[in-house]
Amino acid sequence: MQRFLVTGGAGFIGSNYIRHLLQKYHDISIINFDKLTYAGNLDNLRDVENNPRHRFVQGDICDAMLVDQYMAGIDAVVNFAAESHVDRSIGAPDAFIRTDVFGAFLLLEAARWHRVKKFIQISTDEVYGSIEQGAFRETAALMPSSPYSASKAGADRLAYSYFVTYGLPVIITRGSNNFGPYQYPEKLIPLFVTNALEDKPLPIYGDGKNVRDWIYVEDHCDAIDFLLAHGKDGEVYNIGGGNEHNNLEITEMILAALNKPKNLMTFVNDRLGHDRRYSLDTSKLAALGWKPKHDFKTALEFTIGWYAQNRWWWEKLKSGEYLEFYKKNYKMAL
Ligand code: NAD
Ligand code: TYD
Repeated sequence: MQRFLVTGGAGFIGSNYIRHLLQKYHDISIINFDKLTYAGNLDNLRDVENNPRHRFVQGDICDAMLVDQYMAGIDAVVNFAAESHVDRSIGAPDAFIRTDVFGAFLLLEAARWHRVKKFIQISTDEVYGSIEQGAFRETAALMPSSPYSASKAGADRLAYSYFVTYGLPVIITRGSNNFGPYQYPEKLIPLFVTNALEDKPLPIYGDGKNVRDWIYVEDHCDAIDFLLAHGKDGEVYNIGGGNEHNNLEITEMILAALNKPKNLMTFVNDRLGHDRRYSLDTSKLAALGWKPKHDFKTALEFTIGWYAQNRWWWEKLKSGEYLEFYKKNYKMAL
């Protein structure tokens, strides 16, 4: 029986990953270690909460004693725990440095002392910064441009240093923009889908021509699992969907799928330091034999339908603090 410690497992990708592991394997056990920040939500795991192979522990990865306690006996760590929203990192970077860098450091330390057999650090394509043309390979220089991506770059290289210095079997993944069910409605796709469902404006930053590569969350989870078995220790792997779209295109797809009018599109102030384009060269992962399984349009339509059918999940999240945040930062008349 392989014992997993999944940190940040109550968030968007972590909860999808736990569901993926439980469906695929019957001979594993998972400790889901999550602080339950605003982004952590046990509703994301309702369907697996009584599964005896999954145990939830509320804890902070910056709590060294607690991390050490739950690291004992673990075979594989998958570190999703992070502050993850660029806009929040612009307003208040502190928590990003604390969790994304220092928290990752404490996990690496504990993993080293407990001789964990595999440590997957979930990094991001944002560590490379923006690219006008072409695509980043894993060897490209890191030029992160937001406090979020700079913190993630810190953890990414710290994880590598634990491989080089201490021989900890670390693999680093740099995924592109995920979308799918259970994504907190502050990120582009769930925010725009839920706003459109409520006939509220969709706040497009700047000219809306910023490009992201989109990957369906289930494909991202599948790639992480693939790398657990087939990745080489000490290596970095880009995980992309091969679906580059600018924000206007994504917005139009959402409005068309929901049959909502284009006049919901509202241009607002640009994000500070807004990266123009992210693009990944994924040939290293492809050479190992992995490629995404989901068609972008089908997965996007499924995702839009999921938010339309699961108002219970997001309606309570779109109140209070969330609205205050957007009003303060973008002066939106929401
Ligand atoms: P999320 O914000 O939905 O979830 C983050 C989770 O981490 C939450 O459950 C939160 O409670 C938990 N957490 C935060 N601080 C913690 C702490 N100090 N201790 C324990 N738990 C803590 O984020 P996500 O979108 O699911 O992203 C997960 C990981 O994947 C992050 O590391 C992110 O950088 C990375 N990533 C995300 C994307 C994306 O498009 N969402 C793309 C590439 C990489
Ligand atoms: P986001 O989902 O925050 O992901 P990231 O910035 O980490 O790539 O944003 C995706 C793109 O959508 C990015 O170019 C910023 C833009 N965006 C908007 O135009 N309006 C919004 O309200 C949000 C949240 C994002």
